[in-house]
Amino acid sequence: MTVAPGQPRATRRMVFSGLGAFGVAAALAGCAGDGGSDAPALKAGAELATTDEVPVGGGIVLTDLKVVLTQPTAGQFLAFTAVCTHRGLTVTSVDGDTIRCSHHGSSYSAVNGEAQGGPAPAPLEGLPIEVEGDRILAV
Ligand code: FES
Repeated sequence: MTVAPGQPRATRRMVFSGLGAFGVAAALAGCAGDGGSDAPALKAGAELATTDEVPVGGGIVLTDLKVVLTQPTAGQFLAFTAVCTHRGLTVTSVDGDTIRCSHHGSSYSAVNGEAQGGPAPAPLEGLPIEVEGDRILAV
């Protein structure tokens, strides 16, 4: 396993927001969005999580890294900034296909980051990732 120096594994710091099986496959990310100008700066190659930590049909919030990882369908891994476009607080959970920010009630699609409800004025910015074996890496 390769983890960049000074870049601890996120697994101990993550907030799980669902249960589910896992899928291992190729992946991607990079969804639309012009909202989050405070997107996290991730070190390329840093391991964000392992594939079995992201439930199918749900996701997890990596609060320290300010990243949301989702897996809408088995093997389709996506990443978004966890910085809410309303007031810049960290989103709080993933509930099925919805990313929620409980601070003021915003919600976003876990598939494309689009704002779906609450005061959020813009979508969550997609982040590039890749899957190598069972590891989800920043690109
Ligand atoms: S900061 Fe997320 S809803 Fe207000």
